Amino acid sequence: MSVTPDALKRLLGRRAASVAIVTARAGERVHGMTVTAFTEVSLEPPLVLVCADRSSNTHPVIEKGGVFAVNLLAQDQAALSNRFASKQDEERRFEGVAWETAATGAPILPGTLGALDCRVVAAHDGGDHVIYVGRIEAIRCAPGREPLLYQSGAYGAFTPRES
Ligand SMILES: Cc1cc2nc3c(=O)[nH]c(=O)nc-3n(C[C@H](O)[C@H](O)[C@H](O)COP(=O)(O)O)c2cc1C
Repeated sequence: MSVTPDALKRLLGRRAASVAIVTARAGERVHGMTVTAFTEVSLEPPLVLVCADRSSNTHPVIEKGGVFAVNLLAQDQAALSNRFASKQDEERRFEGVAWETAATGAPILPGTLGALDCRVVAAHDGGDHVIYVGRIEAIRCAPGREPLLYQSGAYGAFTPRES
């Protein structure tokens, strides 16, 4: 099979991924978008990475502000995920959301599993995406919530096997 964007999306889309909203601030401008392309990188020092589409509005806000927060969505937050992925009303995504400001200045969203407040320590070329590596400066954790998963274009929940 040849390596086309469609072939890649078809296979990689079948991978179950947990959903997050990456938020950022540059001066007075706050913005954020839904992502699945984030991962842990290192425990010591504490590092995570996020891949941001070069054509997204979030990418220049991270680039300019040098900070981002990864807000890990809970199972009942599919509507928030859709809102932060939609190109409609993208400047009103935070409306009605009781967000707080992290130590770095990045917005922290309510009702999540938790959030990682990060300062950008490296930005790598990732083709049509930019790979932002962030050093985690603070962690928020809300135990007891289950993660929101995304697979083959649908949201779902993790079900542990019986054995
Ligand atoms: C489940 C899901 C996962 C996504 N993952 C990413 C991602 O990892 N990186 C990315 O740049 N866009 C991702 N997107 C697309 C962005 O959320 C979408 O293009 C958004 O409108 C970008 O907003 P902005 O241009 O205002 O920054 C994802 C969308 C969905 C629904």
